[in-house]
Amino acid sequence: MNINSLISHVTLASVIFAGAAFGASKATITMQSFGKTKDGADTALYTLTNANGVKADITNYGGIVVRLFVPDREGNMDDVVLGYNTVAEYILDTPYFGALIGRIGNRVADGKFKLNGQTYNLVTNNSPAGIPCHLHGGTLGYDKVVWDAEPFIENNTPGLKLHYFSVDGEEGYPGNLDITVEYRLTNDNSLKIDYLATTDKATPVNLTNHSYFNLKGEGQGDILDHVLMFNAANYTPVNAGLIPTGKISSVKGTPFDFTSPHAIGERINDDNEQMGFGGGYDHNWVLDNQDGDLALAGTVFEPTSGRFMEVWTEEPGMQFYCGNFLNGSHIGKSGKSYHFRNGFCLETQHYPDSPNQKSFPSIILKPGEEYKTTTIYRFGTR
Ligand code: BGC
Repeated sequence: MNINSLISHVTLASVIFAGAAFGASKATITMQSFGKTKDGADTALYTLTNANGVKADITNYGGIVVRLFVPDREGNMDDVVLGYNTVAEYILDTPYFGALIGRIGNRVADGKFKLNGQTYNLVTNNSPAGIPCHLHGGTLGYDKVVWDAEPFIENNTPGLKLHYFSVDGEEGYPGNLDITVEYRLTNDNSLKIDYLATTDKATPVNLTNHSYFNLKGEGQGDILDHVLMFNAANYTPVNAGLIPTGKISSVKGTPFDFTSPHAIGERINDDNEQMGFGGGYDHNWVLDNQDGDLALAGTVFEPTSGRFMEVWTEEPGMQFYCGNFLNGSHIGKSGKSYHFRNGFCLETQHYPDSPNQKSFPSIILKPGEEYKTTTIYRFGTR
């Protein structure tokens, strides 16, 4: 289905798919226009509803998860991700709310790396402590492009297949990268993301999703009372420019130890050099599971709503960023400003600056190989 031809016929949300239901409710997908980009390209917003009434609004602009409604322990649905109501606001200014990130998620020191004897210069679009680096794919990362979209329902599970062809040289990266991302809203209340990519030239690839969560609901204050547990005995400490030093350090005895449950706010103001560099948590955890199988990376629990979220991934790392750069300047979907630490991200990934860190797992994809990785955000209550 060509979305542009569909969008031109659809102004109000209309049901475009309904699943076959056997006892349970039917999964549905509706679609509406999400407005035009500056170049006049149409964008669409797809509402995926699973058999339990859990809903995700996803746009093909940046593959952004715009809304995600999940129940609290009383069954009340709240939107647990930060974001905007219009594509225009995402285009104007976003700290990557809900977006797909690539070609390299996270930072590359000085925007430079060497591959097969050649030095590649990426756009430097970020400079923590005045030290320039490449962040989240550059000035025109995958969060800022329009993806081809194909909604589908299989086994009463609604999904959205997104495709983007990232050309050789884009933002300085070598090789044409053919990318498919599939979102599914499964009936165990999971948002499942499958990333697939192939290339015609060796290139670094590290895709992720940059959703900011607040399990109380977006706009409902800070996330410091959320309780985390990570299956990660180590993390990658950084320098002042938020680039890993190359060390894999034990979390034991530090505020980075979430091997047992701790509230985000519990140790965030501890006198700790790493916490100073990040302005709070903004680090990559080395997940205990390193074999590429799907494993539980961590769990987040919000006591007042009773909501929890599990993160499952095949990736070896996870960036936990707790919204230290949010400063009230972004006004979200319900008209509320997003202030300091009003949302947190759990970005499953390979480690930051991987192309320059020989001891980290490689992110180089070669022609003939397939980049294939899955991450699941599963929601429940207790
Ligand atoms: C990074 C932060 C960065 C933020 C941008 C996160 O993934 O870890 O350092 O500022 O993205 O919004």
